[in-house]
Amino acid sequence: MSSKARVGVLISGRGSNMMALADAAARGAPYELALVASDRPEAAGLAWAREQGLATFALSPRGIGKAAYEEAMDAALRGAAVEVIALAGYMRLLSDAFVARWRGRILNIHPSLLPKYKGLDTHGRAIAAGDMVAGCSVHLVTEELDGGEVLGQAEVPVLPGDDAETLAARVLAREHELYPQVLSRFVTR
Ligand code: GRF
Repeated sequence: MSSKARVGVLISGRGSNMMALADAAARGAPYELALVASDRPEAAGLAWAREQGLATFALSPRGIGKAAYEEAMDAALRGAAVEVIALAGYMRLLSDAFVARWRGRILNIHPSLLPKYKGLDTHGRAIAAGDMVAGCSVHLVTEELDGGEVLGQAEVPVLPGDDAETLAARVLAREHELYPQVLSRFVTR
């Protein structure tokens, strides 16, 4: 491939998965981060992205409404010639219209072995269920929350004495490996 795939990363918080994606890009992955966008202008990950010299977009839907917010974000993504969107700790549900506009081109990382534990508190639920194995999934985004085709998964053991926090840390380390791998495969498919 002569040019790298242009990826837009959507974050809401600390952005450690976005950092892992950026890191892999810097080490030669077949994509580049064309835009880091956030629905929370104060997101820590956004400050990091700016420091790295990455293009950023920040806008809160508060006050303007979801439709106008998504319209502006869509324009920013298109303006940056983004081809693939990677959700990385993006805590807002995308509208059906937005998903339809980018169909088949939005990925998400979710901290469970889908189809188990869609939604929030995945680690607490895995521990409460007595699971011996937990993990993370990268999947295509559809209108159904955490419901699109699974593109890759990684497993970790649940250890005696784990709480949601210790398990989350173990899973997160695997997320940082899995997401760049799956995204690299996806953009060269
Ligand atoms: C990760 O656990 C991710 O799987 C989930 O939210 C968390 C985001 O963490 N969707 P970070 O912002 O990437 O550090």
